Amino acid sequence: MIVATTIEDVKKYVKEWKKQGFSIGLVPTMGYLHEGHASLIKRAKSECDKVIVSDFVNPIQFGPKEDLATYPRDFDADCKLCEELGTDIVFHPEPSEMYREGFHSYVGVDVLSSELCGKSRPIHFNGVCTVVSKLFHISEADKAYFGQKDAQQLAIVKRMVRDLNFNIEIIGCPIIREEDGLAKSSRNTYLSAGERKKALVLHKALTEGEKMVRAGEKDAGKVIRAVREIIESEPVARIDYVEIVDWNELQKVDIIDGPILMAVAVFIGEKVRLIDNFIVE
Ligand code: PAJ
Repeated sequence: MIVATTIEDVKKYVKEWKKQGFSIGLVPTMGYLHEGHASLIKRAKSECDKVIVSDFVNPIQFGPKEDLATYPRDFDADCKLCEELGTDIVFHPEPSEMYREGFHSYVGVDVLSSELCGKSRPIHFNGVCTVVSKLFHISEADKAYFGQKDAQQLAIVKRMVRDLNFNIEIIGCPIIREEDGLAKSSRNTYLSAGERKKALVLHKALTEGEKMVRAGEKDAGKVIRAVREIIESEPVARIDYVEIVDWNELQKVDIIDGPILMAVAVFIGEKVRLIDNFIVE
C-alpha cells in the first residue's frame, strides 16, 4: 500500500494506472476509520481495480465553533485497516497541500445545502463540495463511495456531479450500525459510557418513525411528532432538528407521497451532536 502525502504523488500513480486501463474507486474520509468506512472501502475494492482512500480532516468544512481541533485522529490505525482491506493508496495530505496560499476557489450546491444540517452549519457543505471536487480531479476516479449515514452530503454530492458534469459515478452505501443500532460514527468516541447508552434514543425514535411510514402513514407532521416525543423522553437529548424532506430537493413535505428522507440531528449532553436518518424510496 502506498501512503501519499502530495497531490503530485497521487497523480503520478493515477497516470500510470490509467495508461494500463485500470478502473479507480475513491473513498473520501476524514480518518479515524471504523466499520462504516470499511464497508465503503470493501465495496470499492469489489467494483474497481484500484482503490484510493483519502484520509484528510478538511478544515474548510468546519465552522469556527466546531470540533476541528479535537476531531479524533489515528493515522496508524487507519493505515492498518486500509492495508487489510487491500487499499492501493492512502492519500493523507497536510491542509497546506490541499489549500495552498492564495486558495480562493469554492464549489457549492444551492438549495439542498441550506436545509437540514445546512441551517446550523452554513459553510459546511461548500467545504465538502470543494474538497470532494478536488479529490475527484486528483484521483480521476471512475466511482466514488459515500455513506447514507450522511444522507444530505450524499444528495448534495450527487447533485453537484450531475449539475457540473463530473465524469464520475457516485455510489451510495447503507448505514453501518453498532449491534444495538447506534449508527457508527467517528464522533461516537466523544460520548461518555452513560451518554453512549442514551444516544440509542436516535435509533429507537427513527425505527418507530420508519415503521409508521412503511405502514402507510402519509401525515409527515404526525410522524415527526412521534419521533420527537421519543427523543424528548430522554433528558440528555436536545433536538437540533427532526425533519421529513423529499429525497430529491430536500424540501420539507407535509404529505408523504414520494421518496422521503427522515433525518434527525440531536445533541447528547452539551457538545456531542449526532445525526441519523432513514430513507423510504
Ligand atoms: P467521514 O465522516 O470520515 O465519512 C467518510 C464517509 O464514510 C462518508 O461518505 C460517510 O457517509 C461514510 N460513513 C460514516 N459513517 C458511516 C456509517 N456508519 N455507515 C456507512 N457509511 C458511513 O463524510 C466525511 O468524512 C467528509 O465530509 C468527506 C466526504 C470525507 C469530505 O471531507
